[in-house]
Formats: sequence, C-alpha cells, structure tokens
Amino acid sequence: MGPKNIATLLGWAAVVTASYSNRPDYAGRFTFAAPYDQSFLEGYSILKHIGGLGPYSNRMSYGIGRDPPESCAVDQVIMIRRHGERYPQGSDGEYIEATLKKLYGFDVENWKGDLTFLNWWQYYMDSEGLYGLETESGPYNGLLTTYKHGAEYRVRYGHLWDQSSDKIVPMWTSGFERVVQTARKFGEGFFGWNYTDSVALNIISESEEMGANSLTPECPGDTDTQACDSLSQDLPAFRVAAERFNKQNPGLNLNSTDIFQLMFMSVFELNVRGYSDWTNAFTLDEWKWFGYTQDLQFYYCAGPGDPYYKAVGSVYANASLTLLNQGPAEVGAIYFNFAHDTNITPILAAMGIATPSEDLPLDKIPFPSTYEIGNIMPMGGHLTLERMSCNATVATEKGTFVRVVLNEAVVPFTSCQEGPGFSCSLANYTDMVSKMLPDFASECKINSTVPQHLSFWWDYNTTSAYNHQTAMYIPYQGDTYV
Ligand SMILES: *[C@@H]1O[C@H](CO)[C@@H](O)[C@H](O)[C@H]1NC(C)=O
Ligand SMILES: *[C@@H]1O[C@H](CO)[C@@H](O)[C@H](O)[C@H]1NC(C)=O
Ligand SMILES: *[C@@H]1O[C@H](CO)[C@@H](O)[C@H](O)[C@H]1NC(C)=O
Ligand SMILES: *[C@@H]1O[C@H](CO)[C@@H](O)[C@H](O)[C@H]1NC(C)=O
Ligand SMILES: *[C@@H]1O[C@H](CO)[C@@H](O)[C@H](O)[C@H]1NC(C)=O
Ligand SMILES: *[C@@H]1O[C@H](CO)[C@@H](O)[C@H](O)[C@H]1NC(C)=O
Ligand SMILES: *[C@@H]1O[C@H](CO)[C@@H](O)[C@H](O)[C@H]1NC(C)=O
Repeated sequence: MGPKNIATLLGWAAVVTASYSNRPDYAGRFTFAAPYDQSFLEGYSILKHIGGLGPYSNRMSYGIGRDPPESCAVDQVIMIRRHGERYPQGSDGEYIEATLKKLYGFDVENWKGDLTFLNWWQYYMDSEGLYGLETESGPYNGLLTTYKHGAEYRVRYGHLWDQSSDKIVPMWTSGFERVVQTARKFGEGFFGWNYTDSVALNIISESEEMGANSLTPECPGDTDTQACDSLSQDLPAFRVAAERFNKQNPGLNLNSTDIFQLMFMSVFELNVRGYSDWTNAFTLDEWKWFGYTQDLQFYYCAGPGDPYYKAVGSVYANASLTLLNQGPAEVGAIYFNFAHDTNITPILAAMGIATPSEDLPLDKIPFPSTYEIGNIMPMGGHLTLERMSCNATVATEKGTFVRVVLNEAVVPFTSCQEGPGFSCSLANYTDMVSKMLPDFASECKINSTVPQHLSFWWDYNTTSAYNHQTAMYIPYQGDTYV
C-alpha cells in the first residue's frame, strides 16, 4: 500500500470516528482509530537528548492538569524565562569552526555512509555577527517561539492584566542582549498592541556590583566543584561514532572530542534551520550520551551538585516568596522576568525541584533520572509560580495555594501536595521553602558594599524607554551592547 492509500485510509478512519463520536450509545464508539496515542514518541525525540542547547519542548508531565482546578483561579503569576532559541555563542563558535576545519582538512573527496550529506551540507552561520543572538529563521526560531509564548500566556494569564487601569506593568530582564530581546518579544506577544504604552521594561545589569539585587547573582567565592572540572568528552559512545565515520570514509581520522563538537554544533542547526542532516548520522544511544554530558554539566557546574548554587538560587526563591505573601492586591499580579539557563537551574536547586536523591554518576547514566536538562532548561525554558485563590471543595479548604510549573508541567512537592490540583497551601509553602533556603549574602560572602537583597521588584522604573531597541546602549558588565 502506497503512502497515498494509507493517507486515504487514515482520513476515512477519521471520518468514521468523527461521525460516531457524538453518539450516546456505546455501540457507536466502534472505531478504527485508537483515540489515545500509543506511541509516546517524545521519549525518543531528539529534543530530549540535547540538553539545553536546542529547541524548546515542554517538560514531560506527571499527568496533572495544567489549568487550575475548578475551584481555583490564578491571582498572581511569577515567571522567570530563559532566552529563546539562539545561535552558538562566539566562544563555542571557535571550537566549532576549528572542528569543521579539521573535518574538511582530511580531503575526503566523496563523502560516504552516514556522512554522505556532507557532499552538499553547509555550515549554517551566515555571518559572524549572529553568534550569541536569538535565531530568526525556521520553525524553532527564538524570536518567534518567544513571541508565541507571550501570546499563549496572554490567553492563560490575560485576566491578571487590568487594561482599564493606567497602571504600568513592569517587566524585568537581565542586561544581556539576547535576554533583553527575549523580554521584548515576549512582552509584544503578551500585551499585543498595548505593549509600548502599558509596559516598563527594567533592565537589570548583570554586573557583580549588583550583589543580590540581580537576576544573575553570582557567588564570588565559588570555585568549580571537582566533578565539574573533571567532566570529559572522551566517552566510549563518541569513540564508536568516530570509528564508524572513519571506516566509512577512508582518510578520515576523527576522535571522540571531534564527535562531541560535531554533535554540539549540529544541535544549533535545529534552532536555525529546523532540521539537521547530522541528527541521523548519530545513533539514539549516542544522543543519549550527549544529553547526559549536558545533564552532568548543569548538575555539577550550575545546579544541585554545586553547594554554592543553592545559595545563588535562594535570592529569587526568597524574594518570590515575599511577593506571593504580599499578594496581588498589594504588589500586583504579573511578574515576568528574563535571564539565562544557569540563573534558573540554581533556583530549582534551591527549591529542591528535580533534584535527584544521589549525585549523578560520572561513568554511567542513571535510569530513570530526575535531572535531564532537556526536561529542565531547554532554550526558552521557564519556571512559573502560580498563586491560586481557591474556594472550598468537599476535599479542600478555601484559601490561597501555590503551584510550581516547570516548562508547562505542574511539579508538585513530595512533602506538600494536599491542596487542590496537588498544590501546596501558601502557608505551608512559605514554611517549607523558607526552611530550605541558605542565606546568599553569608554563604557567598558577598561584599557588604553591594546590595544584600533583591529589591528591584519593589522599586522599579515606569519608563517605557527600554521597551524597544533603539540606538542606545545596554550596559553589561562594563561592556556595551546595542
Ligand atoms: C469562588 O466563589 C465565589 C462566590 O461564589 C465566586 O464568585 C468565584 O467565582 C469562585 N471562584 C472560583 C475560582 O470558582
Ligand atoms: C490598549 O489599546 C486599546 C486600543 O488602542 C486602547 O483602547 C486601550 O486603552 C489600551 N489599553 C491600555 C492599558 O493602554
Ligand atoms: C582529538 O583531536 C584534537 C585535535 O584535533 C585534540 O585537541 C583532542 O584532544 C583529541 N581528543 C582525544 C580524545 O584524543
Ligand atoms: C499544611 O500543613 C499541615 C501540617 O503539616 C497539614 O496538616 C495540612 O494538610 C497542610 N495543608 C496543605 C494544603 O498542604
Ligand atoms: C528573604 O527576603 C526578605 C525580604 O524580602 C529578607 O528580609 C530576608 O532577609 C531574606 N532572607 C534571605 C535568606 O535572604
Ligand atoms: C569590597 O568592595 C570595596 C569597594 O569596591 C573594596 O574596596 C573591597 O576590597 C571589597 N572587599 C572584599 C572583601 O572584596
Ligand atoms: C531606574 O532608573 C534609574 C535611573 O536611570 C537607575 O539608576 C535604576 O537602576 C533603575 N532601576 C531599575 C530597577 O531599573
């Protein structure tokens, strides 16, 4: 049966399903099309095995409804979002270009086997100036997905924006070019035609001088953990891939490090073109290992495996706790913030979200693993705190509850899930979170001359001057970016 016939058959099955699905009698449920997807393909999706480098995908959920339970309405939302899909950073570009130079330097005239596509493939960077920026082409392009996310959140949280009020809605972004652009695109998506006049984008410098009053706080005393320093790319799986390519292409002599760099490079092609011929050159098991290199990187260098990062993440966790307790009537309902991956993974670590009970092993992949970066912080990854106001049900009391949503999946706390929709009461949440947070200023020994607390959520500017890109410069750690 050709593809066209299969399509016809599937179309016919859909018609049968549609015409019977509204019939009340049980016999009418007879259908050829299975109503529930049996494939669970996302487990095999490349998007889950490329760490935080490639296109966004939702976190695989526990099957808890994303919408608030029937007795509840969200009355305050506090989100921190990573920038959208981007090109490689300039510093990574150097390694990539060196590896491509090595690859083409072997003088293979006619590429064969898994690398046949190299006979026509070309690197996707059209211009040096694009390194580090949001992508702007293809189905996963960062500017587009960010705008779309804003528009989706308008549907979800639009009721929190009082359009009849003259009150300016502040948003906050760290002062890095691609992050600022992300904040603007999201704002355009959420506020639509009213973006320019209704919003005040506050750009918070990434300088260490900001101390705790920052979306990108740092621990000056932190030296890398030993595990972070000893992470290696010379893995057996990558040696196997190198040997396969070398055998298929006489003269070629790639090693495991080259394989890692080529995989790393190819992931960004998805952000730019939406597909990559490289994806199928590697086996799924090789991608599994590649993904694990990224899990280890975050876990030991910017996550729960580095004790300093819990202190770093406590800044945001603690300040958002204050916002939730003050509530929308006192401080407003919408808090949209923008930063980088390694500013959000510490917050998750501080709050114990997705933290495994044991350190990740360096020599093998744990199955199952709670710390998979593809499920935690892809491009566009975001942590959303929902404050919900709920009426009583037969099972739960009237009151204020909190839910943590990571990449659109509800993540309940093991020790606090008695509320509606597996939420935690605000009182219990406050008790639990305040007990687990280390003190940033003392743990990180930050200089007493810099701010010891986050205050920009309470003393923000209401100018719309930064809402759009202009000729002005955005300060970033002494450097200047347009
Ligand atoms: C809670 O009850 C009040 C009073 O009946 C009602 O106005 C409100 O819409 C209810 N809230 C939710 C989320 O159902
Ligand atoms: C949003 O835009 C509409 C149409 O221009 C306008 O009527 C409304 O006042 C605006 N609202 C705000 C909050 O600026
Ligand atoms: C692979 O070759 C590069 C030089 O082209 C070298 O820097 C790297 O250390 C090598 N990797 C291994 C595992 O030998
Ligand atoms: C809050 O904590 C108390 C004491 O542990 C517990 O009895 C109650 O069920 C909790 N409520 C919610 C909504 O989690
Ligand atoms: C948490 O924030 C409050 C005010 O927002 C502050 O008084 C308190 O010291 C902070 N705690 C830590 C551990 O930073
Ligand atoms: C704190 O900052 C001041 C002013 O920048 C500087 O003179 C001093 O050396 C710093 N102290 C420490 C411990 O870094
Ligand atoms: C508000 O603007 C003033 C003056 O430009 C600046 O010093 C301050 O850092 C700004 N605050 C925020 C939260 O952006």
